Amino acid sequence: MKVLVTGAAGYIGSTLCRILLSEGYEVIGIDKLLFGGESLLGLLQHNNFRFIKGDTYNTSTYEDLINSKTSIVHLAAVVGEPASRKIPEETIKTNLEATKKVISLAVKKKIKKFVFVSTCSNYGKCIGEKPATEEFELNPLSLYAKTKVQIENYLANDIKDKLNWTILRLATVYGISPRLRFDLTVNDFTMHAIVDKKLVIFLPRSNRPYVHVVDVAEAVDLVLKNMNLTVQEIFNVGDTKENYRKIDIVNKIKKIVGDFDVEFVKKGEDLRDYKVSFEKIKRKLNYKTIRTVSNGIKEIVFVVKNEIITDFDDKKYYNA
Ligand SMILES: NC(=O)c1ccc[n+]([C@@H]2O[C@H](COP(=O)([O-])OP(=O)(O)OC[C@H]3O[C@@H](n4cnc5c(N)ncnc54)[C@H](O)[C@@H]3O)[C@@H](O)[C@H]2O)c1
Repeated sequence: MKVLVTGAAGYIGSTLCRILLSEGYEVIGIDKLLFGGESLLGLLQHNNFRFIKGDTYNTSTYEDLINSKTSIVHLAAVVGEPASRKIPEETIKTNLEATKKVISLAVKKKIKKFVFVSTCSNYGKCIGEKPATEEFELNPLSLYAKTKVQIENYLANDIKDKLNWTILRLATVYGISPRLRFDLTVNDFTMHAIVDKKLVIFLPRSNRPYVHVVDVAEAVDLVLKNMNLTVQEIFNVGDTKENYRKIDIVNKIKKIVGDFDVEFVKKGEDLRDYKVSFEKIKRKLNYKTIRTVSNGIKEIVFVVKNEIITDFDDKKYYNA
């Protein structure tokens, strides 16, 4: 089984490549190393791993490595609302134009399986208590989420059956990974609670679902292994029990690290507020997450308290 992973050096990609290799896949990673390539260091000795430094836009640099038996997991993107606001042209070029080029290549090569990694941010702001299922109307609030929705629509309406695609809408991810991000809620809050003994948060009652980075990688593996059940399907990836308000995350951190100051501010750019249902992936693929937000908090506490990372201000940990 050969898989091309775009965005292989990123937060999810660097964990996913390791899990796919441990499952016996041959993995080709491509990444333009926006946040450096240290996350690849433990992978490069692996006989079944090959890395190409490059932009997904330039398909000629990797098209010869793909044949009809290759699967593609497409992660490479400008990720997150702040990054898409800061570099909108780059967001459109990577998330729309380059993604369409990767899809065209996948169609041309008649590949077995294309997994498009999308986001639950597509639900935006949901009214009412009912968790959003895959059928809910999408309400993307940022350029980032708008580009994800456009590609979802492109696959469903333009590509249709020309390619075996699956769309995975991930909950907000947390936990440690070879490329660590401290701009994701659980990781960010936990690190600041320990380092600054203070958190500044807005919209403390806004809801969102959370999922561990290893559970995400395992969902991708499950999808690759169950093509018959996942072709032309959309799945939310997470666990319905892991929908939390920001204040719930703060309270979980307090339980683990002790008390710290919390300042509530009125202004904030991010207005997302949604609860999500993850019953479809459980029902169809028997998918279960193993880790919880509390596990993720403990991982970050370990990394910070043992000084495994100390340079928290380094821009490599932040997407914008
Ligand atoms: N982290 C989350 O909470 C989350 C939630 C939902 C969905 N996702 C999706 O998962 C995917 C990966 O997210 P992540 O958190 O690992 O982000 P990340 O920023 O850590 O990883 C993205 C990687 O893509 C690379 N990249 C960007 N543009 C590229 C290009 N044009 N060519 C080649 N490489 C390029 C970057 O260098 C980076 O290594 C994204 O598609 C994102 O939308 C992430």
